[in-house]
Amino acid sequence: MSKPMPFAQSIRFTTWALCALGVVLSAVALAIWGRGAWVPLVVFGALTLLGWRDYTQTRHAVLRNYPVLGHMRFLLEFIRPEIRQYFVEGDHDAGEPFTRAQRTVVYQRAKGAPDVRPFGTKLDVGAKGYEWINHSLQTTRIDSHDFRIWIGGEPGTPRAGASPCTQPYNASVFNISAMSFGALSANAILALNQGARIGGFAHDTGEGGISRYHREHGGDIIWEIGSGYFGCRNADGSFNAERFAAQAREPQVKMVEIKISQGAKPGHGGVLPGAKVTPEIAAARGVPVGVDCISPSAHSAFSTPVELMHFIARLRTLSGGKPVGFKLCIGHIWEWFGIVKAMLETDITPDYIVVDGAEGGTGAAPIEFADHMGAPVQEGLHLVHNTLIGAGLRERVKIGAAGKVITSFDLARMFALGADWCNSGRGFMMALGCIQAQVCHSGFCPTGITTQDQKRERALVVADKAPRVAQYHANTLHALKELLQAAGLMHPDQLSTHHIVRRIDSERIRLLSAIMPTIRPGALLNDLSHQLNVYRLYWPLADAHSFNPRNPDAGEPDGAPDIRPTVAGRPASAAQIAEALTRRRAPHPGAITHLVPEQSNAHRAVPSADTPTHVPKEWTASGANGAGGAPAPAAHEDQVV
Ligand SMILES: Cc1cc2nc3c(=O)[nH]c(=O)nc-3n(C[C@H](O)[C@H](O)[C@H](O)COP(=O)(O)O)c2cc1C
Ligand code: SF4
Repeated sequence: MSKPMPFAQSIRFTTWALCALGVVLSAVALAIWGRGAWVPLVVFGALTLLGWRDYTQTRHAVLRNYPVLGHMRFLLEFIRPEIRQYFVEGDHDAGEPFTRAQRTVVYQRAKGAPDVRPFGTKLDVGAKGYEWINHSLQTTRIDSHDFRIWIGGEPGTPRAGASPCTQPYNASVFNISAMSFGALSANAILALNQGARIGGFAHDTGEGGISRYHREHGGDIIWEIGSGYFGCRNADGSFNAERFAAQAREPQVKMVEIKISQGAKPGHGGVLPGAKVTPEIAAARGVPVGVDCISPSAHSAFSTPVELMHFIARLRTLSGGKPVGFKLCIGHIWEWFGIVKAMLETDITPDYIVVDGAEGGTGAAPIEFADHMGAPVQEGLHLVHNTLIGAGLRERVKIGAAGKVITSFDLARMFALGADWCNSGRGFMMALGCIQAQVCHSGFCPTGITTQDQKRERALVVADKAPRVAQYHANTLHALKELLQAAGLMHPDQLSTHHIVRRIDSERIRLLSAIMPTIRPGALLNDLSHQLNVYRLYWPLADAHSFNPRNPDAGEPDGAPDIRPTVAGRPASAAQIAEALTRRRAPHPGAITHLVPEQSNAHRAVPSADTPTHVPKEWTASGANGAGGAPAPAAHEDQVV
């Protein structure tokens, strides 16, 4: 007896067969009734031919098996994000990357719609990781939500250090994060910059240079300079001082930011494919039209921490004394400590540092970089803040932070962890109408934000979206003002880790100050033996004259706990770690660096002399790093406490 045909089997060719039947019936109808039947004849004919093409093509197995019908799958896949967002996703489902609730609050604040929550919280206040701010019985009254800070020193107060800033900037505590023209459309740049001007806050250009769209509305600009030195480069891609000075001295440019790394793809380069290098993008970047535009993975203007400090001083002079800082995502701890040692040695300090977290956004990044490279903002920010305190430099350097900052509580948390201000990238994209379709790299952005297709970008009406950018900013800061008032504070700079409480498990809670203790001022300049392991172990390794770890003079710190890597069963000394890491840095014959196009799927491999760093084999002997592929977790945990 033959087996019954499964349903899926029976419908395999049914749709195609029905189309063919439709052709026959339409042809008969045409013969009987004449002209009116040609429309179904054409439609069914086209579908029948499509079925034939599906059946004979060799690229898509689904279409070969399900001619015509198989296209439904592609259609459904295409609209899956929208279906999920509109019909399936719960308000607080783990974000992809932002929850519906987060997106909704941005849309509401951008539109000036009511953002109150009836009936109480939907969060599980008993869940591990739940956080809140302690409120006060002595609430305050704050006149304005326009919270500001001085970057580069307060006017009228003496500035410390060699090469101090002479044109400090009075910045809002909430600004637009770096996103280039090229990654964003012209209309998106126009709307962001006009919004920044309306709201009196800053708009970071991203590393793609200052375009005419940044200039049109005159909003304050932070000019970001990446490793491609776009807008200030020679033909060979090296830094050009004259070109830099010409633009940095423009009054609209308020600060200069050296991009060292970005949280979503730290240590990675990028390439804008030649086909996307339009005349306007080429003009902003100072590169030839139609030629691949490459951002190397490292800078050519400096190669040691001390050289970085001198580069900062040089940019400050060339810009006419404007604040100069850098943006980084924390990676190897000794490299960051080396930068701080260089500050101490040269007496040159950046006016600010923006700490970007691994959770930050990007136009395009390899998935491993986006998911597993670089420190999250909480750990990076805490480390940067504490290192500067420990080195006695915190008063001279302001700190910005970025990484999924959407609501005023996100802002408050960053301030508590040590930030002086915050940047948001995707928050402001949502204010422009981003629906989180996540096809930013394809050029097919449905909302006209991340595309260079003029027909698509016309969907973004600047006059409508610029006020939304300003309103999102203002309403978020208004909500922050209300949080501060309830906590009995007057300014975000009064927030500390003592104000935030985190649930550890169902029975226990902790102040952030207990989980993430603050170092004593100047502690790194003295005996390290009582400091956390991250300082005891890595500070001696750091070298102001090299990003490589060095053999420390200080020897091995006393009483090192057994979470450290081991060599032959004994805790490794700092010197042994340094030696192992230095050996690892010998050039690798087959090393390659993959560059990701800023708006394309195509990955390209470009040879590089850089060596990928791996965990030394000696470290894995500790058992702390079983597979030997990822950084030793013990050391990383140490870093975060
Ligand atoms: C579309 C897009 C383009 C970006 N371009 C740059 C860039 O040119 N330079 C840079 O330093 N960061 C860039 N970033 C990263 C943001 O400036 C920021 O660090 C990160 O998005 C912060 O996370 P948030 O989006 O959660 O606020 C980009 C991010 C996005 C989403
Ligand atoms: S493609 Fe457009 S709408 Fe989708 S996430 Fe990117 S910017 Fe937002």
